[in-house]
Amino acid sequence: MATPEILRKYREPIVARLEGVLQERGPLGEMFSYHMGLQEADGSPGPGIGGKLLRPSLVCFSCEALGGQIDAALPLAVALELVHNFSLIHDDIQDKDELRRGRPTVWKVYGVEQAINAGDGLLVLALRSSLEAKTLAVEMSLAAQKTLLSATYRMIEGQVLDLSLEGRAAGVAEYLDMARKKTGALIGCALELGGIAAGADEGLRGKLRALGEVLGLAFQIRDDWIGIWGDPEVTGKPVGSDLLRRKRSFPVAYALERDPSLEELLAQDPFPLEEVLRRLESTGSKEATAGEARKYVREADRIAAGLPWEPWAKIAFGELLSFLVDREA
Ligand code: IPE
Ligand code: IPE
Ligand code: MG
Ligand code: MG
Repeated sequence: MATPEILRKYREPIVARLEGVLQERGPLGEMFSYHMGLQEADGSPGPGIGGKLLRPSLVCFSCEALGGQIDAALPLAVALELVHNFSLIHDDIQDKDELRRGRPTVWKVYGVEQAINAGDGLLVLALRSSLEAKTLAVEMSLAAQKTLLSATYRMIEGQVLDLSLEGRAAGVAEYLDMARKKTGALIGCALELGGIAAGADEGLRGKLRALGEVLGLAFQIRDDWIGIWGDPEVTGKPVGSDLLRRKRSFPVAYALERDPSLEELLAQDPFPLEEVLRRLESTGSKEATAGEARKYVREADRIAAGLPWEPWAKIAFGELLSFLVDREA
């Protein structure tokens, strides 16, 4: 599947600025560089900045779509990407995941204790770098800080819910509330920050945030689909790790509402992976999960149609939506 324009267009300036911000030395700086892909643990060069850079690309896009200048958006874009990476370092500890972007996770390489420090440090670096949006008027810069802080807080609330749902009989409604926070918040923040950089008023900023949250929901539901039915060669994550962790992903929440006896199977040790996969399929969970992601993409499409975006932007956003809903990694 071809990478959509939004994920290609801004990659270079975002990477350049990220590399500029990630100049910290010493053991803390080394962990940042390792996680971000700039360096290996032995100090040799890494594969380069990892990830799709979805959130910072959306900040830049959202700014340009309203006729703003990307220079105003870039510091905010980079700050948001660092907040996202802080969340991933802690998330991998919480989920006990050993691989991220095809490489051993920070806790796996440096230990849990130091990985907590790495996440904390990256969050502070993120917030400090957001203060460098010098082309923004003071009140706009303050609005951006507030948006970033609120979204970070909501994301952490989502992570708390995510863990509290593990191993518990949670249904689809609880799942959706959790996913809107853990993933929707930062993606909503991305579109809102771009709006702020382009001078959008509060009404428009609210619409951008709502659009991003819906997009985030679609994104997380597809991520859950990939976590179970994706190809580990492509995802860089082992098959069924979310299932083994007793995660209440969308496919599990959906299947449990239709087949409550699945609960017993999920609690078994050793984990009956093959049998769980069969039971998920028999409830129609695979198709329902793909369909649910498509439902939120349609909603996103509807909200986007009503925005005062330049025509090229509506086309590019549509292309991103199709990509996200069919992605395999
Ligand atoms: C992973 O996000 C965490 C989720 C919210 C699903 P991404 O899939 O955007 O991660 P990277 O940055 O591209 O690796
Ligand atoms: C990630 O959620 C959300 C955040 C890090 C805030 P997941 O735990 O579902 O994402 P992956 O699968 O590890 O990337
Ligand atoms: Mg995780
Ligand atoms: Mg998680």
